[in-house]
Amino acid sequence: MTATPTAPTAFLAPTGLTTDGLPLTTVDEERRAALVAGFPFPFPNPTYRYSTNVEPARGAVLTPAGQWGEVVVDVDVEYREELAQREQVLARDPSRYAVLPHMRVACWDAMLGLMRELAAAYPDDMELTLVEAGARPRYRWRNGLLGLEQEFTYGVEDTLPGEPLGWICSQVQEDVVLMDQRDGVLYGDAGVVTFAADWSFGFDVGMSFLEIHGPVPRLHAEGVITRAQQFLVRLQPGEVYRRTNWTLTIGRRLDVSTELYDEWGPDRESVQLLDDTAFGALVHLRVEVQHLVRLPESGAIMFLIRTYMLPLEEVARVEDWRVRAADVLAELPQDMADYKGIAKFRDRAAAWLRAAG
Ligand code: HEM
Repeated sequence: MTATPTAPTAFLAPTGLTTDGLPLTTVDEERRAALVAGFPFPFPNPTYRYSTNVEPARGAVLTPAGQWGEVVVDVDVEYREELAQREQVLARDPSRYAVLPHMRVACWDAMLGLMRELAAAYPDDMELTLVEAGARPRYRWRNGLLGLEQEFTYGVEDTLPGEPLGWICSQVQEDVVLMDQRDGVLYGDAGVVTFAADWSFGFDVGMSFLEIHGPVPRLHAEGVITRAQQFLVRLQPGEVYRRTNWTLTIGRRLDVSTELYDEWGPDRESVQLLDDTAFGALVHLRVEVQHLVRLPESGAIMFLIRTYMLPLEEVARVEDWRVRAADVLAELPQDMADYKGIAKFRDRAAAWLRAAG
């Protein structure tokens, strides 16, 4: 094996995979450094098992390469690029965006909550001003990054350019699901999810929390998901928690929704035929930082999914990450590897990382 993590791939010869033509992290040095510095490396231990791994949000997590986690809504170097991708996905497949009729209040709640998070995290660029208090307050929203300025009356849809959830989701990189709570059960009744990692929001919309997690092995038998539901049902207004989740995907392809499986699924086979340089450039550790927020007015739970991807060749440049990721991938039980869709190439990924030392 000839993996050379100290010489990241600037340009890759065509591979025949469907990811040919997608941008590589390593082409732009500045962007690469920013993505590495902010990467939420997800493995605190050398083995990985499912657990109700939630913790209070907003605490900075220091990594050997930088840090992540101080903000709930994260704007990074991919902001414009990812928003453009979301727009394209929605134009091609509107089923990635759904609001059941009883979720209108939750959508306004979510929009205001996201604006407040953005304004708190990026005060130079984002600003929410209360223009007039009252039963129907008036606000002014400024998103300097997109050159947007909008005055609106809370709850009055025609004071916005569009429906509130859809509009705010055109300004954040996070996917968003809003869970309604009825009789102690949570239902995924609204959302904008354009970057699902092998699941389908259009299929899941309206399902309960337990039904949504139906396909995941171990979760039900081990009580992980009932504990998670109990935790979420008790979450108080204003409380924000977070967790991470991870998988491996091929190329910098954010939209690996089940609907498009025919498009990206074959890459999981083809990637096995690549030489080591292309393998290390194209196999990505894909991490989701998920935030869980109880919205104050509607009582809905806002579930934010922010996806980060780093190719193995970059993971390998951080020694602790290289060793830890190799250990986790090599040890991961077969049923979990099967569910994640990585069974056919995770051994090679582990070996690639080990050889890159
Ligand atoms: C404490 C809260 C939660 C826990 C512990 C949890 C746990 C998990 C785990 C372990 C997986 C498998 C991931 C993998 O191996 O790649 C999963 C998948 C998933 N989770 Fe959650 N989750 C939580 C909250 C949520 C919420 C609020 C939603 C809202 C929609 C959600 C939607 C999903 C979906 C759609 C999948 C993929 C299922 C499929 O394959 O169809 N999760 N979750």
